[in-house]
Amino acid sequence: MDRLAVMRTTPTAPRREPTRDELIFLQQWLREPTRIGAVAPSSPRLAAAITVAIPADGAPVVVELGPGTGAFTGEIQRRLGGRGRHIAVEINPGFARHLRSRFPTLDVAEADAEHLPATLAARGLTTADVVVSSLPWASFGPALQRRLTDAVTTTLSPDSVFATFAYLHAQHLPQARRFRTLLGERFAEVTVGHTVWCNLPPAYVLQARRPRRP
Ligand SMILES: C[S@@+](CC[C@H](N)C(=O)[O-])C[C@H]1O[C@@H](n2cnc3c(N)ncnc32)[C@H](O)[C@@H]1O
Repeated sequence: MDRLAVMRTTPTAPRREPTRDELIFLQQWLREPTRIGAVAPSSPRLAAAITVAIPADGAPVVVELGPGTGAFTGEIQRRLGGRGRHIAVEINPGFARHLRSRFPTLDVAEADAEHLPATLAARGLTTADVVVSSLPWASFGPALQRRLTDAVTTTLSPDSVFATFAYLHAQHLPQARRFRTLLGERFAEVTVGHTVWCNLPPAYVLQARRPRRP
C-alpha cells in the first residue's frame, strides 16, 4: 500500500466536545484565575486518590473545600453511601449554584474556607474527620496560606485526615514549597502519594495527619 493510501485510510481520532462542567470551569477561571487555580476540572483518577482516607464505616464528617464543578463530590458521595455528613464549602457563587443543581441533596456552604470553624458551628459541628481540599495553595500568598491552614487545623481532631493535591509541574515554585513547609509545621505527619498522570496537569495527593493547633 502506498503512503497516500495509508493516509486516506488511517482513521482520525474522534474529536471530543467539552462537557458542560468543563465549560463552566473555564468560564469561572477566566473571571478569577488565581482563586480557581486550574483551567479544567480534576480527573476521576485524582478523585479516587484524594478520597481514599474516607473511612469505609461509621458516620464520618467530610468537608470538601473548593469543590468547583464537583470533580471530587460524586466520589465522596459514593464512598459515604449516605453515611455521615458531607459539607462542600465553595466561595464562588457560580460553582455553588452549579453544585446545588448537580447534587440536590448536597450540603453546599457558599462560604470562604477561612471561616470553616463558623461554617461547621452553624451546622452544630466542631470537628471534621476528613477534609478534602482542592484549594489552589500555590496561587495563594503566605498570609492567606497560613489563615486557611489555621482554619483547617482548628477543625481537625488528632485522628482526622487532611487531603489535598498539588500539580507536579508547579512543585518547585516558591509558593508550592512554602505550602509544603507550612504543612510540615502544622502537621506531625505528611505523606506524598504517587503522581496521578491521568489528570490535566498531572498531580499528586498530600495527606496530612496529627494536626498541631495554631
Ligand atoms: C483548582 S479548583 C478545584 C475544583 C474541583 N475540586 C476540581 O478539582 O476540579 C479550586 C476551587 O477552590 C475554590 N476556592 C478558592 N478559594 C476558596 C476559598 N477561600 N474558600 C472556598 N473555596 C475556594 C475555587 O472557587 C475553586 O472552585
